Amino acid sequence: MRVIVEKDYDGMSKKAAQIVAEVVREKPDCVLGLATGSTPLGLYRELIRMHKEEGLDFSRVKTFNLDEYYGLPPNHPQSYNYFMHQHLFDHINIAPQNINIPNGLARDAEAFCAEYERMIKDAGGIDIQVLGIGGDGHIAFNEPGSSLGSRTRLKTLTEETIRDNARFFSSMEEVPKFAITMGVGTILEARRCLLLANGSKKAKVLAQAIEGPITAQVTASALQLHPNVIVIADEEATSELKRKDYYAHVERMTEKLKDILASAEGLIYGGGIKE
Ligand code: F6R
Repeated sequence: MRVIVEKDYDGMSKKAAQIVAEVVREKPDCVLGLATGSTPLGLYRELIRMHKEEGLDFSRVKTFNLDEYYGLPPNHPQSYNYFMHQHLFDHINIAPQNINIPNGLARDAEAFCAEYERMIKDAGGIDIQVLGIGGDGHIAFNEPGSSLGSRTRLKTLTEETIRDNARFFSSMEEVPKFAITMGVGTILEARRCLLLANGSKKAKVLAQAIEGPITAQVTASALQLHPNVIVIADEEATSELKRKDYYAHVERMTEKLKDILASAEGLIYGGGIKE
């Protein structure tokens, strides 16, 4: 697991956008796994800027969103479908048929979820999955207690998540109580995961997810099992990490190692690696 600490939200968003843009440039028909919520807004803004100013091309990119509220139509202003169009899709050249978001109105949720899993497989799997982390440690809507092998399914939201989401609705009654969500097992099959976290509210749970035990009580901790995870977080969100200095050291040394390996002397018989 690579942990990159950025000074603030802006730095986190720009770093994340660089990584996603690199995937899009290297593989123009890549499959992106996307998240909603407040965390990736800056990343999406930066991707839009790159599209408009640098010609970042999404015409062959396919996307799969992590989750959608169950019971909200796609045109509901609080649906994740609406959110994704408002904050990303309407501003880039993605083909509408390449956008996949769980159908919050699927009557037969079980059949829909199996189909969603099939569609991800048929698309060749997710190349990079963008993730935020919930206050209770969830990734997507895999609430505490979700199986770490879980697949896309209909999930009952916790009271904490319902309360967190209440700010977006005019009354508690309107806040969805269920969601269709990719499972932890589904997410772990992505080739790479990009976990973003910002703000002091995420500090404790991020430390649990990265440095705590792997547990279904903090489903983000399952990312420790994944061989290719990049965590990008700001100073505030990383304030409770015990190994923060080491993560920074790894980033510095990785850069140095790249320089040394690219140089004529090479590593072993060259000047060694000095900090
Ligand atoms: C959203 C999602 C959720 C959020 C998480 C953090 O698609 O899957 O897991 O990433 O609840 O939300 P924010 O970013 O609003 O703090």
